[in-house]
Amino acid sequence: MTRAFKTLDDLGDVTGQRVLVREDLNVPMDDGRVTDDTRLRATLPTVTELADKGAIVLVLAHFGRPKGQRNPEMSLALVVKPYEQVLGRPVRFIDDQGAADAIATMRPGDIGVIENTRFDPGEEANAPATIDRLAALGDIYVNDAFSAAHRAHASTEGLAHRLPAYAGRAMEAELDALDKALGNPEHPVAAVVGGAKVSTKLDVLKHLVAKVDHLIIGGGMANTFLAARGVDVGKSLCEHDLTATADAIMDAADRAGCTVHLPYDVVVAKEFAANPSSLRTCNVHEVAADEMILDIGPAATEALADVLKTCRTLVWNGPLGAFETPPFDTATVTLARTAAALTREGSLVSVAGGGDTVAALNQAGVADRFTFVSTAGGAFLEWMEGRELPGVAALAG
Ligand code: 3PG
Repeated sequence: MTRAFKTLDDLGDVTGQRVLVREDLNVPMDDGRVTDDTRLRATLPTVTELADKGAIVLVLAHFGRPKGQRNPEMSLALVVKPYEQVLGRPVRFIDDQGAADAIATMRPGDIGVIENTRFDPGEEANAPATIDRLAALGDIYVNDAFSAAHRAHASTEGLAHRLPAYAGRAMEAELDALDKALGNPEHPVAAVVGGAKVSTKLDVLKHLVAKVDHLIIGGGMANTFLAARGVDVGKSLCEHDLTATADAIMDAADRAGCTVHLPYDVVVAKEFAANPSSLRTCNVHEVAADEMILDIGPAATEALADVLKTCRTLVWNGPLGAFETPPFDTATVTLARTAAALTREGSLVSVAGGGDTVAALNQAGVADRFTFVSTAGGAFLEWMEGRELPGVAALAG
């Protein structure tokens, strides 16, 4: 495939070269422990490859949102030990003050993590002085952080214009997978869009109807679409002020030849709790005034599985029901397992990402059986909206 960006394969000899590698080390921590090290593990291919080739690897990353202020609770010094464990190699913490002197003592193959880029207000402002300061620390720039690429910051965008710039291995894998999912997909393409609110995913839905053959809407947002079709959704979560917008999206889908799938049976309860006594399954037209829809029903789930069986590509964002609370994870788990089985058989390319999606697929035990699962949150959504991500655009030159 011809790519618009350079990768590590295009690098010459990097022995002794200082390579600034933008990673996403923004990991969840509790009491000094990293509770999910997926993002740390994602950096391994790039960081070890460069270190093994004799580069001086200088990891740049943000941690939290310190808003341009130094904040010890958001110091990347806290991440260095867990990062060393994941890498299985020593990692040096480099304070941003005096960084050049510290780096001058590093040897080929050494790995360092530079303090939180967001302690400098110029990072988020993409300020020329900050880009200059960072560029002076390295010879080459590698961006490996797709999940931060929706930010036009100094370390995610500005530096790519100042130093020879390359995509890291994780970035490369992510961009290739996303290209297969929506850029240049094999049709028919299905998109699953779930989650609580239509309002947070309007642009995603508008973009997808023009791109995919089947749009499967689940989660609380399906209720708004059902209400737009005249269904009484009882006391379900529903954005009644957005029913006209939902109508317009369904019209746009019709015009584009995209079939919108809404559930025709649903799982309802009078209260939102685990296994409530009022739990029942009914047709969408039979929801009582004091009931709320909490998941897609079994008949609709089976019909959706049949749709996936006719498709070649699937892109998935958001759960189909209130999946954190059993049994309202049933539709999400069932459909995710169907997608995983089809992927294994080789009939489906399945790409998922964003927010709760990874948690939902982990719950279904299938996250490692999808073709690609992105750990990006905001960046994945912006990509699903069809927006150009500044960090990716900058790599293209
Ligand atoms: C994330 O956690 O999604 C990324 O690290 C981006 O973080 P941000 O939303 O604070 O820019």
